[in-house]
Amino acid sequence: MDLSNQIYVRKSCRKYLDDEIDLSGIHEFISNVNPLTEDIHYHYEIFKRDEVSLKTPWSAPYYLALYSEKKDLGLVNIGFVFQQGCLFLQSIGIGSCWVGMASIKEKDPEFVILIAFGKSDEMTRDVSNFKRKSLSEISDFEDEKLIPAQLAPSAINSQPWYFKHTSDGFDVYQVKQNILKRQILKKWNPIDVGIALSHLYVSNENTFEFEVKNSFDDLKGYTYIGSIKI
Ligand SMILES: Cc1cc2nc3c(=O)[nH]c(=O)nc-3n(C[C@H](O)[C@H](O)[C@H](O)COP(=O)(O)O)c2cc1C
Repeated sequence: MDLSNQIYVRKSCRKYLDDEIDLSGIHEFISNVNPLTEDIHYHYEIFKRDEVSLKTPWSAPYYLALYSEKKDLGLVNIGFVFQQGCLFLQSIGIGSCWVGMASIKEKDPEFVILIAFGKSDEMTRDVSNFKRKSLSEISDFEDEKLIPAQLAPSAINSQPWYFKHTSDGFDVYQVKQNILKRQILKKWNPIDVGIALSHLYVSNENTFEFEVKNSFDDLKGYTYIGSIKI
Protein backbone atom coordinates (compact mmCIF):
# COMPACT_ATOMS: atom_id res chain seq x y z
CA MET A 1 0.00 0.00 0.00
CA ASP A 2 1.56 3.31 -1.07
CA LEU A 3 0.89 5.87 1.67
CA SER A 4 3.57 8.34 0.56
CA ASN A 5 1.13 10.79 -1.08
CA GLN A 6 -0.54 11.33 2.35
CA ILE A 7 2.66 12.98 3.62
CA TYR A 8 2.07 16.04 1.42
CA VAL A 9 -1.56 16.66 2.40
CA ARG A 10 -1.89 15.60 6.05
CA LYS A 11 -2.20 17.89 9.01
CA SER A 12 -2.73 17.30 12.71
CA CYS A 13 -6.47 17.09 13.11
CA ARG A 14 -8.01 18.84 16.11
CA LYS A 15 -11.65 18.99 15.00
CA TYR A 16 -13.59 15.75 14.82
CA LEU A 17 -17.02 14.47 13.90
CA ASP A 18 -18.61 11.97 16.25
CA ASP A 19 -19.17 9.27 13.60
CA GLU A 20 -18.58 5.67 14.64
CA ILE A 21 -15.68 3.95 12.92
CA ASP A 22 -15.34 0.28 12.03
CA LEU A 23 -12.02 -0.47 13.71
CA SER A 24 -11.31 -3.84 12.06
CA GLY A 25 -9.38 -2.37 9.09
CA ILE A 26 -7.23 -0.34 11.49
CA HIS A 27 -6.37 -3.41 13.57
CA GLU A 28 -5.51 -5.30 10.41
CA PHE A 29 -3.26 -2.52 9.07
CA ILE A 30 -1.36 -2.11 12.34
CA SER A 31 -0.79 -5.84 12.69
CA ASN A 32 1.01 -5.81 9.33
CA VAL A 33 3.21 -2.72 9.86
CA ASN A 34 6.97 -3.21 9.65
CA PRO A 35 8.76 -1.97 12.80
CA LEU A 36 12.12 -0.17 12.71
CA THR A 37 13.80 -3.10 14.48
CA GLU A 38 12.29 -6.49 15.24
CA ASP A 39 13.49 -6.85 18.84
CA ILE A 40 11.35 -4.30 20.70
CA HIS A 41 7.96 -5.40 22.07
CA TYR A 42 5.19 -2.88 21.66
CA HIS A 43 1.41 -2.96 21.71
CA TYR A 44 -1.57 -0.64 21.52
CA GLU A 45 -5.16 -0.34 22.69
CA ILE A 46 -8.03 1.72 21.34
CA PHE A 47 -10.02 3.80 23.82
CA LYS A 48 -13.07 6.01 23.50
CA ARG A 49 -12.94 9.70 24.49
CA ASP A 50 -14.29 9.14 28.02
CA GLU A 51 -11.74 6.43 28.77
CA VAL A 52 -8.63 8.69 28.62
CA SER A 53 -7.43 11.71 30.65
CA LEU A 54 -7.09 14.78 28.46
CA LYS A 55 -5.35 18.12 29.00
CA THR A 56 -6.12 19.41 25.50
CA PRO A 57 -8.85 21.98 24.79
CA TRP A 58 -10.17 19.65 22.05
CA SER A 59 -10.94 15.94 21.96
CA ALA A 60 -11.51 13.11 19.50
CA PRO A 61 -13.95 10.19 19.58
CA TYR A 62 -11.13 7.61 19.63
CA TYR A 63 -7.59 7.32 21.01
CA LEU A 64 -4.82 4.85 20.23
CA ALA A 65 -2.82 4.25 23.42
CA LEU A 66 0.73 3.15 22.60
CA TYR A 67 2.97 1.05 24.83
CA SER A 68 6.57 -0.05 24.44
CA GLU A 69 9.12 -2.11 26.23
CA LYS A 70 11.71 0.28 27.73
CA LYS A 71 14.72 -0.23 25.45
CA ASP A 72 17.06 1.87 23.31
CA LEU A 73 15.08 2.92 20.22
CA GLY A 74 11.78 1.98 21.90
CA LEU A 75 10.34 5.48 21.48
CA VAL A 76 11.82 5.88 17.98
CA ASN A 77 10.17 2.60 17.02
CA ILE A 78 6.79 3.78 18.38
CA GLY A 79 7.01 6.87 16.15
CA PHE A 80 8.05 4.72 13.18
CA VAL A 81 5.25 2.16 13.53
CA PHE A 82 2.36 4.40 14.45
CA GLN A 83 3.04 7.24 12.01
CA GLN A 84 2.47 4.58 9.36
CA GLY A 85 -0.83 4.03 11.16
CA CYS A 86 -1.62 7.77 10.99
CA LEU A 87 -0.87 7.88 7.25
CA PHE A 88 -3.12 4.84 6.76
CA LEU A 89 -5.92 6.55 8.72
CA GLN A 90 -5.46 9.68 6.59
CA SER A 91 -5.75 7.53 3.43
CA ILE A 92 -9.18 6.24 4.53
CA GLY A 93 -10.54 9.66 5.48
CA ILE A 94 -9.78 9.54 9.20
CA GLY A 95 -7.87 12.42 10.80
CA SER A 96 -5.41 11.98 13.66
CA CYS A 97 -3.10 13.86 15.99
CA TRP A 98 -0.32 12.65 18.30
CA VAL A 99 -1.16 13.91 21.80
CA GLY A 100 1.53 14.33 24.42
CA MET A 101 -0.83 16.30 26.65
CA ALA A 102 -2.99 13.34 27.56
CA SER A 103 -2.72 10.02 29.31
CA ILE A 104 -4.43 6.75 30.06
CA LYS A 105 -6.43 6.53 33.28
CA GLU A 106 -4.62 3.55 34.78
CA LYS A 107 -0.87 3.93 35.26
CA ASP A 108 1.24 1.58 33.14
CA PRO A 109 5.07 1.84 33.07
CA GLU A 110 5.11 0.88 29.38
CA PHE A 111 2.63 3.60 28.34
CA VAL A 112 4.22 6.04 25.86
CA ILE A 113 1.67 8.35 24.23
CA LEU A 114 -1.82 8.65 22.74
CA ILE A 115 -2.93 9.36 19.18
CA ALA A 116 -6.35 11.00 18.79
CA PHE A 117 -8.36 9.94 15.74
CA GLY A 118 -11.77 10.15 14.18
CA LYS A 119 -13.72 11.18 11.11
CA SER A 120 -13.11 14.79 10.18
CA ASP A 121 -13.56 17.25 7.37
CA GLU A 122 -10.53 19.31 8.50
CA MET A 123 -7.55 17.03 7.94
CA THR A 124 -5.86 18.13 4.74
CA ARG A 125 -3.94 21.16 3.47
CA ASP A 126 -1.82 22.29 0.56
CA VAL A 127 1.88 21.48 0.76
CA SER A 128 2.64 25.24 0.70
CA ASN A 129 1.00 25.53 4.14
CA PHE A 130 3.49 23.34 6.04
CA LYS A 131 5.64 25.37 8.47
CA ARG A 132 8.96 23.54 8.46
CA LYS A 133 12.74 24.05 8.72
CA SER A 134 14.49 24.33 5.35
CA LEU A 135 16.25 21.29 3.86
CA SER A 136 19.61 22.94 4.51
CA GLU A 137 18.77 23.27 8.22
CA ILE A 138 18.02 19.56 8.61
CA SER A 139 21.01 18.21 6.69
CA ASP A 140 24.67 18.91 5.89
CA PHE A 141 23.51 19.88 2.41
CA GLU A 142 20.16 20.40 0.75
CA ASP A 143 18.77 17.14 -0.62
CA GLU A 144 15.24 16.69 -1.98
CA LYS A 145 15.28 13.04 -0.93
CA LEU A 146 14.71 14.40 2.60
CA ILE A 147 11.44 16.24 1.83
CA PRO A 148 9.26 13.44 3.33
CA ALA A 149 11.21 13.74 6.61
CA GLN A 150 11.12 17.55 6.45
CA LEU A 151 7.30 17.44 6.37
CA ALA A 152 6.94 15.07 9.34
CA PRO A 153 4.92 16.17 12.38
CA SER A 154 6.70 16.63 15.72
CA ALA A 155 5.95 17.71 19.27
CA ILE A 156 5.42 21.51 19.31
CA ASN A 157 6.74 21.37 15.73
CA SER A 158 10.28 21.06 17.14
CA GLN A 159 11.56 19.07 14.10
CA PRO A 160 14.49 17.60 16.05
CA TRP A 161 15.98 15.55 13.19
CA TYR A 162 19.28 16.00 11.37
CA PHE A 163 20.64 13.95 8.46
CA LYS A 164 24.32 13.73 7.54
CA HIS A 165 25.11 12.26 4.15
CA THR A 166 27.19 9.07 4.06
CA SER A 167 28.51 7.18 1.02
CA ASP A 168 25.29 5.16 0.78
CA GLY A 169 22.63 7.04 2.77
CA PHE A 170 22.42 9.15 5.91
CA ASP A 171 23.49 9.09 9.52
CA VAL A 172 20.47 10.23 11.52
CA TYR A 173 20.77 12.47 14.57
CA GLN A 174 18.45 14.00 17.17
CA VAL A 175 18.94 17.63 18.19
CA LYS A 176 20.08 18.11 21.81
CA GLN A 177 17.63 20.65 23.25
CA ASN A 178 18.57 23.34 25.77
CA ILE A 179 17.81 22.56 29.40
CA LEU A 180 14.37 24.21 29.39
CA LYS A 181 13.10 22.58 26.23
CA ARG A 182 14.64 19.25 27.25
CA GLN A 183 12.19 18.95 30.18
CA ILE A 184 9.25 19.00 27.80
CA LEU A 185 10.73 17.29 24.78
CA LYS A 186 12.94 14.52 26.13
CA LYS A 187 10.22 11.89 25.79
CA TRP A 188 8.71 13.21 22.57
CA ASN A 189 11.77 13.98 20.44
CA PRO A 190 12.79 10.31 19.92
CA ILE A 191 9.20 9.65 18.81
CA ASP A 192 9.53 12.60 16.39
CA VAL A 193 12.68 11.11 14.86
CA GLY A 194 10.84 7.79 14.40
CA ILE A 195 7.99 9.65 12.70
CA ALA A 196 10.45 11.32 10.27
CA LEU A 197 12.04 7.92 9.55
CA SER A 198 8.62 6.41 8.84
CA HIS A 199 8.01 9.11 6.21
CA LEU A 200 11.32 8.17 4.56
CA TYR A 201 10.37 4.49 4.80
CA VAL A 202 6.93 4.81 3.16
CA SER A 203 8.52 6.97 0.44
CA ASN A 204 11.27 4.40 -0.24
CA GLU A 205 9.60 1.17 0.84
CA ASN A 206 11.66 -1.18 -1.33
CA THR A 207 15.08 0.24 -0.55
CA PHE A 208 14.85 1.57 3.03
CA GLU A 209 17.29 -0.01 5.50
CA PHE A 210 18.08 0.99 9.10
CA GLU A 211 21.05 0.02 11.25
CA VAL A 212 22.88 1.33 14.29
CA LYS A 213 26.59 1.66 13.44
CA ASN A 214 29.43 1.36 15.94
CA SER A 215 31.34 4.13 14.26
CA PHE A 216 29.84 7.48 13.27
CA ASP A 217 30.78 11.16 13.40
CA ASP A 218 30.14 12.89 16.73
CA LEU A 219 28.25 16.08 15.88
CA LYS A 220 28.19 18.85 18.49
CA GLY A 221 24.61 19.50 19.59
CA TYR A 222 23.24 16.22 18.24
CA THR A 223 22.80 12.62 19.43
CA TYR A 224 23.35 9.79 16.93
CA ILE A 225 20.25 7.60 16.48
CA GLY A 226 21.14 5.30 13.57
CA SER A 227 21.89 5.17 9.86
CA ILE A 228 19.62 4.65 6.87
CA LYS A 229 19.84 3.72 3.23
CA ILE A 230 16.91 4.95 1.14
C1 LIG B 1 5.09 13.42 19.86
C2 LIG B 1 4.06 14.48 19.54
C3 LIG B 1 3.26 15.03 20.54
C4 LIG B 1 2.30 15.97 20.23
N1 LIG B 1 1.48 16.47 21.23
C5 LIG B 1 0.47 17.33 20.92
C6 LIG B 1 -0.45 17.78 21.92
O1 LIG B 1 -0.35 17.41 23.11
N2 LIG B 1 -1.45 18.62 21.54
C7 LIG B 1 -1.60 19.04 20.25
O2 LIG B 1 -2.55 19.81 19.97
N3 LIG B 1 -0.74 18.65 19.27
C8 LIG B 1 0.28 17.79 19.57
N4 LIG B 1 1.14 17.34 18.58
C9 LIG B 1 0.97 17.82 17.18
C10 LIG B 1 2.05 18.84 16.81
O3 LIG B 1 1.79 20.07 17.46
C11 LIG B 1 2.09 18.99 15.27
O4 LIG B 1 2.49 17.77 14.71
C12 LIG B 1 3.08 20.06 14.82
O5 LIG B 1 2.71 21.33 15.30
C13 LIG B 1 3.16 20.12 13.28
O6 LIG B 1 1.90 20.34 12.70
P1 LIG B 1 1.24 19.30 11.69
O7 LIG B 1 1.18 17.95 12.37
O8 LIG B 1 -0.14 19.82 11.40
O9 LIG B 1 2.10 19.19 10.47
C14 LIG B 1 2.12 16.40 18.87
C15 LIG B 1 2.91 15.84 17.87
C16 LIG B 1 3.85 14.88 18.19
C17 LIG B 1 4.65 14.25 17.08
